[in-house]
Amino acid sequence: MQFHVKQGFVQDETADLLVVNLFEGVTEPGGATRALDQALNGLITQVIAAGDFKGKLGETQVLYSGGALAAPRVLITGLGKQADFGVAKARKAAAAAAKKARELGVARLATVVHGAGAGGLDAADAAAALVEGTLLGSYRYRGYKRAEGDNGKPELAEVVVLEADADKLAAVQQGVAAGQVVGEAANWARDLVNEPPNYLTPSEMARRVVQRAEAAGLKAQVLGEAEMAELGMGSLLGIARGSDEEAQFIILEHIPQGHDLAALPTVALVGKAITFDTGGISIKPAENMWKMKSDMGGGAATAAALVAAAGLNLPVHVVGLIPSTENMPGGDAIKPSDVVTVMNGKTVEIISTDAEGRQVLADAMCYAARYQPDAMVDIATLTGAIGIALGSDLAGLFCDDETLRGRLAAAGELTGESLWPMPLWQPYRKLLDTDAADMKHTGGRLGGSITAALFLREFAGEQPWAHLDIASVSWQEENSPFAVRGASGFGARLLTELLGAYAG
Ligand code: BES
Ligand code: MN
Ligand code: ZN
Repeated sequence: MQFHVKQGFVQDETADLLVVNLFEGVTEPGGATRALDQALNGLITQVIAAGDFKGKLGETQVLYSGGALAAPRVLITGLGKQADFGVAKARKAAAAAAKKARELGVARLATVVHGAGAGGLDAADAAAALVEGTLLGSYRYRGYKRAEGDNGKPELAEVVVLEADADKLAAVQQGVAAGQVVGEAANWARDLVNEPPNYLTPSEMARRVVQRAEAAGLKAQVLGEAEMAELGMGSLLGIARGSDEEAQFIILEHIPQGHDLAALPTVALVGKAITFDTGGISIKPAENMWKMKSDMGGGAATAAALVAAAGLNLPVHVVGLIPSTENMPGGDAIKPSDVVTVMNGKTVEIISTDAEGRQVLADAMCYAARYQPDAMVDIATLTGAIGIALGSDLAGLFCDDETLRGRLAAAGELTGESLWPMPLWQPYRKLLDTDAADMKHTGGRLGGSITAALFLREFAGEQPWAHLDIASVSWQEENSPFAVRGASGFGARLLTELLGAYAG
C-alpha cells in the first residue's frame, strides 16, 4: 500500500473515498468534517441529527456526495468520547475506516489525520497511528484460495494523507513513514501466523524470517539441531524429537547504524515458535487443534519487532531469539516422566508433553544470557489458563521489575495491545518440586499460567525479565469493526514500542 502526504483540504480531493471523523456526541462538527458538511449542504449534520451516526469508536457511516464533491463517497469514522481519546483510539478509528473501505472495494482513499486537530494528539504520533490503523484494518490473509477474494473488488492500494497546516507537514510525513514500518511488520507477523503449518515448517519459518530480516538490515543466523546439541539445548531438542521436521533456532540482531554499540542498552526478545502444537504424546483433543498453527505467534511478533526496530533504526541493541519446532507425537517423541537437561545444566522432568513452550523457551532464554542484556522479554502462546483468567483482549504480564513492567504496560496502552499484571507468586514455586529432577515443568491446573511463569523465571538470569503470555490474544475468533478474524499479530507493535522506550 502506498501512502502520500499532501497539504490540502479534504473537500477538494478526488479519491474514491474521503475519510473524516467525529467525536461521539458532537452534533455540530468542526474542522475538516465541518468543511465537508458544508460542501455537502449539511448532509453530515443531518445524519447526526437523525440519530443514524453517533461517533462511537468503530462506527462508520458511508455517504454519497451526489455530485457535490469531486469524490463519489465520504466516510465518517467515529472517534469515541473525546474525554477517552488517545493514540490507540485514533488507530482503531483508522482501522475501522480502512476495513470499511476494503469492503466497499475502494482503491484510493484520502483521509484526514485523526486526532491531530481537535483531538490534540502530536501530529507525528497521530499520523503513525493513522497509517498503522489503515494497514491493520485493511489486512486480509490471502491464503491458498485460487479464486479472487472479495468478488474481484480492487484492493486498497493508495492512501492520501491530508494535512491542511503547513507547519505540521514534516511531522506528519515522519509519522507516516514510521507507521508504515510498524504496520507492515505487524501484518507480516499475521501472515506468518495465518500460514498453514505444512507450508510454514520450522525451516520455512527460518527461511522467511531470515529473508525479511536481512532485507531490513538485521544480522540473521539459524542454528540446526546439531549446533543446538553442541550448545546443550536438551530441552528444545527433547520437544523436537517427536517431529520429522528439523528444529531451528533463529537468531536476529539489530545493530543500530551510526551509534557506539557498547554505549547502547541491549534488549533480548525471546519468542516461542511452535509451528504446530499437537500436544505431542500428551495429545490435544481434535476439535480446536487446528488453531495450534498459531503457536508460533510469539516468535512472529519477535521477528516483526526486530524488523521494525531496523526499519526505524532505533538506537537500541536488540537480540531476537526464536526457538522453532513442531510438537508432534512421533515414535521417538519425548514422553511424560522423561527428564531433559536445559542449556544451563538444570534437569527438568516432563509431566505433559503439551507443556512444550516453556521447554523451548528455557534453552532460548539461557542462550539470551550470552548477550548480557539489560532486559529480557519472552513472548509466548503459553497457557490456555491465561485466557480463563484474562479473556481474549488481555495478555498476561509477569514481571517483578518495576521499570520494565511500567514500560511494557505503557507500550500496551499506546499500541492497544493491552497487558494485565499477573503475579510471580513465589509460594507456588514448590508446585514444581519433584523427586526425579531439579524441577518438573508443570504445577497442575490451578494457577497454570503462574506456575508456567515461575518455571521460566528459573532460566531468566539476573537482569530484569518479563514474560508475556499471549495465548488468548494471538488468534481472534471473530471479526471486529477493526480487524478480520485470525491472527492478530499481537506483540509486534507492543515490542516495537517497548524498544522505542529503551531507545529513549
Ligand atoms: N500452545 C498451548 C497453549 C495455548 C492454548 C495457546 C490455547 C493458544 C490457545 C501450550 O503449549 C499448551 O498446550 N499449554 C498447556 C499447558 C499444560 C499442559 C500445563 C495448556 O494450557 O493446557
Ligand atoms: Mn502445548
Ligand atoms: Zn504450545
